[in-house]
Amino acid sequence: MIKAEDIDITYYKAMKEAPETDPERQYYFIAKAGELIEAREEELGRKLTACVVTFGCQMNARDSEKLLGILRAIGFETQDDENADFVIYNTCTVRDNADQRVYGRLGVLNGFKRKNPAMRIALCGCMAQDSVTVEKLRQSYRFVDLVFGTHNIYKFAELLYHMYQNEGSMLVDIWKDSDKIVELLPVQRKYDFKTGINIMFGCNKFCTYCIVPYVRGREKSRTPEDIVAEIKDYVKDGVVEIMLLGQNVNSYGKNLPEKTSFAELLKRVEDIDGLERIRFMTPYPRDMGDDVISVMKHSEKICKHLHLPLQSGSSKILKMMNRGHTKEEYLDLALKIREEIPDLAITTDIIVGFPEETHEDIEDTLDVIRKVKFDNAFTFQYSMRHGTPASKMPQVPKDIVSKHFDEVLSLVQETAREQSKRWEGQIMPALVEEVNEHDESLLTGRLSNNILVHFPAGKEMIGKIVPVYLKECKGFYYLGEMQ
Ligand code: 5AD
Ligand code: SF4
Repeated sequence: MIKAEDIDITYYKAMKEAPETDPERQYYFIAKAGELIEAREEELGRKLTACVVTFGCQMNARDSEKLLGILRAIGFETQDDENADFVIYNTCTVRDNADQRVYGRLGVLNGFKRKNPAMRIALCGCMAQDSVTVEKLRQSYRFVDLVFGTHNIYKFAELLYHMYQNEGSMLVDIWKDSDKIVELLPVQRKYDFKTGINIMFGCNKFCTYCIVPYVRGREKSRTPEDIVAEIKDYVKDGVVEIMLLGQNVNSYGKNLPEKTSFAELLKRVEDIDGLERIRFMTPYPRDMGDDVISVMKHSEKICKHLHLPLQSGSSKILKMMNRGHTKEEYLDLALKIREEIPDLAITTDIIVGFPEETHEDIEDTLDVIRKVKFDNAFTFQYSMRHGTPASKMPQVPKDIVSKHFDEVLSLVQETAREQSKRWEGQIMPALVEEVNEHDESLLTGRLSNNILVHFPAGKEMIGKIVPVYLKECKGFYYLGEMQ
């Protein structure tokens, strides 16, 4: 783990030419960009501010921590307010409404930029990997200064440097794919006591609705040594909970020279002294072997929560989605896990409105929800992504999708309410994350099963794992008392 202050800026400032290899090359550009920023600050007579806005998943949240680390190392003051001197939108394109939200907010940024000519705007992440988006930005959003993708995020300092050198034109750098993983860049964590960590990048599954394999490229895993070393550093720095991140974490290790399974990686992470909690996101049902279930069952540290995407309960739709399993296989797996680890919360993702989905297919989805009794579920309306196989299949009319969606959502909510209640009256450890958003006298903690509990206590408890009595279930969260 590298912090901004670990980089010997004076050494890199004195260098005449950029080193060829990374991360040293990026340290050089951090130093050089720092000089540019200092000069700007002198002209303006104030500090330059930067803001990173994250859209989408945990992977993006983690990428934003990397962007913030680099911005801090360069010398920006980072803030949450988008009225800043440099704003970076780290985007998601998994569904069209994610794209639309970004376009809407870019309009607002343009307003800020008109008032602050020193302002610069960057767009990165999954949306930027799509050539149609880039064309649209070039045509209609010319006030954007920098566009880069998911494969070259490690080059942010270098790109930022060129952006400030290259005033007035849009700098675009998008790579189709990459097998490069650059370690040891600075990271600014959102929380001191927990963080996500990439164990692998990309996806090889090609579910027919999904744009991720096209924008995140092919699967590549980090070595277990790099992962364990990074987690050990975080633990030394106060982290107690780690989330292992990947598009499908149980495919981990397949492309490593020395093959390592996800179950083996979990065991190695479990052995790290001082680490208290392990989470992971997201496993793929077809690859969920007995080895992983067994490790979870016997672990002291792996949280009692499994997010196991269902997508659809219909075998016909699952086949069209290319998920590689049937309704019965999913049910067998989920019910086996329920039996093996009864105090585990199982959550899921469901897509409603996939091409050719009929009410009979929805009945199958409802049937799986009733049988597995998901502790929570994200329900999405199918969104057509261009270039994916499903975009060429016969689409379901919007009004039918919306009727089916309401049906699924209401069962999911009913089940989740019932399931959440099952912990009432118990005392469970909670990791205290923050002061409650709505009531300052309360703290918000996360239980191992991922449910939130709010209880009265002082701020000094933030970052600690404390026992909490789960007094009253309020639907999807608890009110409790610290014991
Ligand atoms: N439309 C709707 N939902 C989608 N997801 C992925 N692609 C699409 C799409 N085209 C959902 C899946 C996945 C989650 C991250 O997003 O449910 O698990
Ligand atoms: Fe998309 Fe399927 Fe890969 Fe998940 S596993 S990212 S849904 S292609």
